[in-house]
Amino acid sequence: MTFPRHRPRRLRSTPALRRLVAQTSLEPRHLVLPVFVADGIDEPRPIASMPGVYQHTRDSLRAAAAEAVDAGVGGLMLFGVPRDEDKDALGSCGLHPDGILNVALRDLAKDLGDETVLMADTCLDEFTDHGHCGVLDARGRVDNDATNAQYVKLALAQAESGAHVVAPSGMMDGQVAAIREGLDAAGFTDVVILAYAAKFASAFYGPFREAVGSSLQGDRRTYQQDSGNAREALREIELDLDEGADIVMVKPAMAYLDVVRAAAEVSPVPVAAYQVSGEYSMISAAAANGWIDGRAAALESLISIRRAGADIVLTYWATEAAGWLA
Ligand code: PBG
Repeated sequence: MTFPRHRPRRLRSTPALRRLVAQTSLEPRHLVLPVFVADGIDEPRPIASMPGVYQHTRDSLRAAAAEAVDAGVGGLMLFGVPRDEDKDALGSCGLHPDGILNVALRDLAKDLGDETVLMADTCLDEFTDHGHCGVLDARGRVDNDATNAQYVKLALAQAESGAHVVAPSGMMDGQVAAIREGLDAAGFTDVVILAYAAKFASAFYGPFREAVGSSLQGDRRTYQQDSGNAREALREIELDLDEGADIVMVKPAMAYLDVVRAAAEVSPVPVAAYQVSGEYSMISAAAANGWIDGRAAALESLISIRRAGADIVLTYWATEAAGWLA
């Protein structure tokens, strides 16, 4: 009889030992809750493909935000859902001070002040009638530089409405530099840029398109990245760092954990990862069928994203998970 020389199980033998040696932590402050606020609805509207997630009214958003902040989440990421009749080719209702996203930012800034971190999606797709993340040229292609000019105005409107963080998610070249310059020139030197640096054209955004009532025909493959391209993701991250990104994000999270790891290894600034709608919906659907323990699977998925190297995780479970962790 020979005894095993190495016994890794020894450190697993009691809950207290396991807690002592736990390598990866998951705390409410690491989590950011994405929220949707819709114009022209009287009641929160459930999103069928994302059970438990709603398009909020201004009032229900305020309640959800207060609940998230009480639970200790790190921040809130706001998406606006305008009325269909307010959409146009330029996404003008995103820039308008009375547009739903800007109004909601002012509501939350008033309610919460600096108690949480208010972030705004700085993109046009929710506001354009064609559903693309930018403005189109005469041939119907997304015009990079004209889009950046529009993003600068959008970021300014969001900063004026109280956003602590603007989050350009459209994958235009030079968007971070343009926004930084525009914010600084207007005196918003403290407004943080969370750059969606490596954002892939992903099937996992499917439920989100319902969530924001997207008008998109076709796809976003001329601006979002191909899923196989890890080297290009690092290039995108390095460019955004060079342009002045304060935080860089990889999106989606679970199918791109290698990219999260690679970003964490090179980035001198915090790395975020976005656990997107499809990731949430898959686990929720399996749980609803009784095929999986939804809470355990959600927490395991969040730990996996942290383990890969994300400092910050955007997740639709943020408030609930904060409660589970308490
Ligand atoms: C675009 C945007 C998208 C998401 C966040 N911002 C969708 C897209 O690129 O089509 C997806 C988020 C999710 O799926 O949870 N502004």
